[in-house]
Amino acid sequence: MVKICCIGAGYVGGPTMAVIALKCPAIEVAVVDISVSRINAWNSEQLPIYEPGLDDVVKQCRGKNLFFSTDVEKHVSEADIVFVSVNTPTKTQGLGAGKAADLTYWESAARMIADVSKSDKIVVEKSTVPVKTAEAIEKILAHNSKKINFQILSNPEFLAEGTAIKDLFNPDRVLIGGRETPEGAKAIQALKDVYAHWVPVDRIICTNLWSAELSKLAANAFLAQRISSVNAMSALCEATGADVTQVSHAVGMDSRIGPKFLNASVGFGGSCFQKDILNLVYICECNGLPEVANYWKQVIKVNDYQKTRFVNRVVASMFNTVSGKKIAVLGFAFKKDTGDTRETPAIDVCRGLLGDKARLSIYDPQVSEDQIQRDLSMKKFDWDHPVHLQQSTPTSVEQVSFIGDAYEATKDAHGVCILTEWDEFKKLDYQRIYDNMQKPAFVFDGRNIVDAEKLREIGFIVYSIGKPLDAWLKDMPAVA
Ligand code: NAD
Ligand code: UDX
Repeated sequence: MVKICCIGAGYVGGPTMAVIALKCPAIEVAVVDISVSRINAWNSEQLPIYEPGLDDVVKQCRGKNLFFSTDVEKHVSEADIVFVSVNTPTKTQGLGAGKAADLTYWESAARMIADVSKSDKIVVEKSTVPVKTAEAIEKILAHNSKKINFQILSNPEFLAEGTAIKDLFNPDRVLIGGRETPEGAKAIQALKDVYAHWVPVDRIICTNLWSAELSKLAANAFLAQRISSVNAMSALCEATGADVTQVSHAVGMDSRIGPKFLNASVGFGGSCFQKDILNLVYICECNGLPEVANYWKQVIKVNDYQKTRFVNRVVASMFNTVSGKKIAVLGFAFKKDTGDTRETPAIDVCRGLLGDKARLSIYDPQVSEDQIQRDLSMKKFDWDHPVHLQQSTPTSVEQVSFIGDAYEATKDAHGVCILTEWDEFKKLDYQRIYDNMQKPAFVFDGRNIVDAEKLREIGFIVYSIGKPLDAWLKDMPAVA
């Protein structure tokens, strides 16, 4: 029986390994982590992450060929294939701080693999890493004196949160990079055989190591660039009376461009886009390519501009101050169908409103009060260092209350900001919300999910990203 061990039981390690276990009943899969609470949760009825379809997959395999454990060394030493899916956050200190990837967790995992291994292993980079990381990992692994043969593969993960199980069941492609040697080819084939249990072989792409590592950074940069492109257009739409939804539709109908990922929003969030682009920028700078670095940097600048623009629009519309006013925030997660808040635009928007002394009442169907308090009090880039590895204890932010229901959250509010596109926000009784709000009542739709015309008929003043502005908003221009 082939044995797989995955180091890192997070958003990638957990779902990915659960799907491998489900699709490959003859393979034993152990997912290990240094976080006792995370592993306990994986072994309980309340999994540590919310992901549609995940509970079902885990229930079918857990205890049969899928195991979650904190006994990292035992499972690594017994495995034939070791996936490393630890977090690779942005460095917060020292050389490259604010840009470069922090490979501390990766390096400590690699050193541990070298220490405990007694047999040959394939080591798979599942985490997103800078191009050429495999070379560094090879050096660490080769430094053990036990004459063990390690083959390094790069197998980046392309799943998106909220659709992870769907993406894993039916991936656009699986990418495997390895050394162009007979041993490298053998290792690639071994991993290909695992995926071939359910992925059509023509969708399994094999490349050299550096192409695989770089393709992951490139894919995320291209995706984020589309969002920044449409968001940049949304500002121009508001200035000219064009409608960004119509523009996206017209542009996306060109088969060379395609319709996906062209939804204007308050900004992209999530643990990957910003981190990976910063990482790409740093690599370009290190390789003497400042023009290329600046090109990609602009994607992040436009994203920051979009969040600032949104806050300015809220404040300017409400007579240039939100001091002491109650603003209801609907949605805190970085997208719907996840409880993940890493780099969510809601953090910057809430901070911006708090900076103008607003009182916030926040509701999200999947995010806890503790998480929101932690996010709003945390330093930039600390968010991707797991709670159990963080040094500082978060302080509670005054002026913020967490409410477990959208109607309660909006009661007596002066304005409502919709920051996550949860389906339930589309179906709310907005007449009821309007009746219970201060007047004039504002809705700022950061995801373009409400029917603005209907809300205007009720009496709301409505701002939708990239859409023609109400007369009220035109009279109170926001300065970005
Ligand atoms: P995560 O923070 O949810 O999980 C990482 C886990 O690794 C944590 O539970 C942490 O405790 C554990 N860990 C850290 N060091 C360890 C060690 N030495 N030994 C054992 N466990 C250790 O992160 P994630 O979202 O799963 O992301 C993991 C990697 O995958 C990152 O490189 C990320 O960029 C990449 N990625 C993420 C996504 C996504 O949607 N989240 C998608 C594609 C790729
Ligand atoms: C992303 C990549 O899609 C995935 O392939 C990679 O493996 C990890 O990073 P994820 O961050 O989970 O996945 O979600 P994604 O659907 O890409 O959304 C990222 C952010 O962009 C969200 O905040 C989302 O709301 C925003 N977005 C997405 C838009 O604002 N407009 C769009 O058209 C699409």
